[in-house]
Amino acid sequence: MTAYLNGQFLPIEEAKISPLDRGFLFGDGAYEVIPVYSRRPFRIDEHLRRLQLTLDGIRLPNPHALEEWRRLVERIIADNEFDDQSVYIQVTRGADSKRDQAFPSGVAPTTFIFTAPLVTPSAAQREMGIAVVSALDNRWLRCDLKTVSLLANVLLRQQAIDAGCVETIMLRDGYLTEGAASNIFVVKNGVLLAPPKDHRMLSGITYDVVLELAARHGMAHEVREISEAELRSADELWMTSSTKEVLPITVLDGKPVGNGKPGPAARQMYAWYCSFRDDVMRKSDV
Ligand code: PDD
Repeated sequence: MTAYLNGQFLPIEEAKISPLDRGFLFGDGAYEVIPVYSRRPFRIDEHLRRLQLTLDGIRLPNPHALEEWRRLVERIIADNEFDDQSVYIQVTRGADSKRDQAFPSGVAPTTFIFTAPLVTPSAAQREMGIAVVSALDNRWLRCDLKTVSLLANVLLRQQAIDAGCVETIMLRDGYLTEGAASNIFVVKNGVLLAPPKDHRMLSGITYDVVLELAARHGMAHEVREISEAELRSADELWMTSSTKEVLPITVLDGKPVGNGKPGPAARQMYAWYCSFRDDVMRKSDV
């Protein structure tokens, strides 16, 4: 498997970084995960724009121009054998010769890209929906930044795994924020509800696609605070992300969501999502 590290394309096994890298010492870096279908990246410009927002948010100069990023990602896709991929990009504040929290001076950032086969939900998960648990959102107040400081997300996601579930849904001050690695939507009385984009959640690329599709097809939707009571009395819950796409949640904390089966709105949105994605991919052929 070919990866990219600081200007070089090389087998992933040969990619080595210093233990003094600030990504390793402090989680001081940004990342992106870009889904690739039939060797074409989906919404790459939006992912690269969000990378820029994260880098700006953590005051780390972007090591590459947009066009360079596109070329690097295209080369990684071409150099690897699978057609559907999940491309991972990471930029850290690099490796100094000492350990100090304050920014180093004159240190080059570390840029790393690798790819893996894209693993989307199984047919059984689509058919049955998935089970999730809820937890207090105990993360910092810049959840809009996609940084590699993910320990809270790691611990939160593990709570789901320990309970035999797939994802952990978080609540802050009694309101829904997002999943440990996904955004969450609620359907109640025929209206799609989405939490507002602010510092409490990541501005998901899939979240944006879902809201664009709801607007385009006239699905009633509202972007607003969602209370715990609304979450627990939802007719449908969905999780969305670049790798999970749009996936129905049918069990929350051991209780059925709605009638306990994937709902009609989730099925409809997933169909719109697939045809929109396939259309975009076809157009990027020319
Ligand atoms: N996670 N919220 C969080 C905390 C996330 O980590 C993710 C994605 C999302 C969904 O964003 P998008 O639709 O842009 O993928 C929301 C990625 C896939 C990950 O960390 O693996």
